[in-house]
Amino acid sequence: MTRRLERKVKTLSEKQSEKRLVTAALPYINNIPHLGHIVGSHLPADIFARYCRSKGYDTVFVGGTDEHGSTSEIAAAKIGVNIKEFSDKLHNEHKKIYDWFNISYDNFSRTSHKIHHKTVQDFFKKIYDNGFIKQGKMKVFYSPSEDIFLPDRYVTGKCPKCNYEDASGDQCERCTSVLDPTQLKNPRSTLSGGEIEIKETDHLFLKLDKLSSKLKKWILSKKDWRKQVTNLALGWINEGLKERCITRDLKYGVKVPLEGFENKVFYVWFEAPIGYVSSTKEARKDWESFWKDKNSKIYNFLGKDNIPFHTIFWPGMIIAEGEFNLPEKVIGLQYLNYEGGKFSKSKERGVFCEKLPELDIDSDIWRGYLTQIIPETNDSEFKWKDFQERVNSDLIGNYGNFINRTISFINNKFSGEIRKPLEEDFTSRDKKLITTTRKKIKNITEYLEKSELRKAFGEILSLSAEGNKYLNDNEPWNLIKTDPEKANRVMYFCANLGRSLAILSAPYLPNSAKKIWKQLNLEGSPEIPGIWDSAVEFCFPEKHRINKAEILFNQIKKEDLAEIKRKVSKPANLPELFR
Ligand code: 2FM
Ligand code: ZN
Repeated sequence: MTRRLERKVKTLSEKQSEKRLVTAALPYINNIPHLGHIVGSHLPADIFARYCRSKGYDTVFVGGTDEHGSTSEIAAAKIGVNIKEFSDKLHNEHKKIYDWFNISYDNFSRTSHKIHHKTVQDFFKKIYDNGFIKQGKMKVFYSPSEDIFLPDRYVTGKCPKCNYEDASGDQCERCTSVLDPTQLKNPRSTLSGGEIEIKETDHLFLKLDKLSSKLKKWILSKKDWRKQVTNLALGWINEGLKERCITRDLKYGVKVPLEGFENKVFYVWFEAPIGYVSSTKEARKDWESFWKDKNSKIYNFLGKDNIPFHTIFWPGMIIAEGEFNLPEKVIGLQYLNYEGGKFSKSKERGVFCEKLPELDIDSDIWRGYLTQIIPETNDSEFKWKDFQERVNSDLIGNYGNFINRTISFINNKFSGEIRKPLEEDFTSRDKKLITTTRKKIKNITEYLEKSELRKAFGEILSLSAEGNKYLNDNEPWNLIKTDPEKANRVMYFCANLGRSLAILSAPYLPNSAKKIWKQLNLEGSPEIPGIWDSAVEFCFPEKHRINKAEILFNQIKKEDLAEIKRKVSKPANLPELFR
């Protein structure tokens, strides 16, 4: 990049005062993620956060592991390790996978951190002082044989709303209803299958009913949310919000700082979302500005089962606390299925992430394909055949090919040097390329602003297809013989378009974007904060020498698919991790 442009980018980014806080739902720690988890929150949040940085917003992207709740405690006990050892290991396994996928968390924290416990307790005290907590009794399940209170997730039964047989204690997976365990019909323990007793103990409740009208007003004010999210949220409100219990009779978790409740912990869904706050605290000294300033916007990315918690329960807590900003947008994603069914660990159906780094496939290939199947509006499907076809045609045949054709041609026919043409020599075809590029970049930016990530990526691919078309229409391989000046002009435009594509695709394909940048021999990187708006400029210097061409991606061969599939469809065996 030229000095002049670098200065301009810098001023641009200084001017951008809007802050953006991007979150991905904190994954439970009792399992190792599969592709459904990646595409269902981490990847879309990452693409959006990368875009925001590039656009020049002061961005912070946080997440972390959701470690409390007895699911992990019991999983640890089954393996025979203590919860600390279990959580340390699993947290690292998660982190390794997100790092491999280049998920650019500014901080990937843990709800077991001290700072989180303190943040939760402070948040609670504020809600309590504001009068939104009430004491009451709750019936809970107790297993006399083991002398433990059974956590929600360890009670299953029939959903009172849709009659699904295997609804778990706090939520029905099928109809997404949020439940109290005692509402289940025919409750049974998933642990022992043994008898369950109901006991009544003292608990604290969030007065959600008192927050209903404010929540409704907030949801109605959000005109650009996806229909599914708004409808689910309004559905809850219209059904009538009830007080919701926020404490549990468990030992492991965040202690309740209130007399008489010393032996209880907070319900995970009360404390986990506060993890977004604690993670921001660890990430930035000026964390408060992201949560409290008027010019800061919060974007939550999460799976569909998390929608009620992010549109009702957590925002309710925020309103009750009084000082924090409500989310600008709750991006609830649908589910990713696998070859016509669900992902299943036990049936070894799916793509389990821990083996991906062992394959010789760049994470950008997975990111590129996953982007095309992000379940933005409907459930979507991972299919091996589709994976192979789309990678080979879109990423390699279109995007990679345009870059490779451009860089190779300039190297082969112009000894790697490209010169800026005179404006008066631009043909109408050149001008058409400029106009189309501008229009597409405008669309891409608008889609990204609306977090329509798939559509934006579709436009990026169609822009590289435009590049291929421009090359084909001009046939520089013939021009070089008859009109080398014109051939130079064509390649100048292609090289510039390569630069634009590197910037535009960087949020999706960060490795490849950097490779393009290097091959074009540009200064800095395609990810400099604030660089986004310069993608539209044709700004190569007067004379510029590029580097040698390198292939961006290798083809996925049909004959290799079976072996790839065999390697990645076997989920990690948790006990083995501890041997
Ligand atoms: O569904 C889940 O995986 C939860 N652990 C998500 C929590 S999101 C948040 F609010 F922290
Ligand atoms: Zn149900």
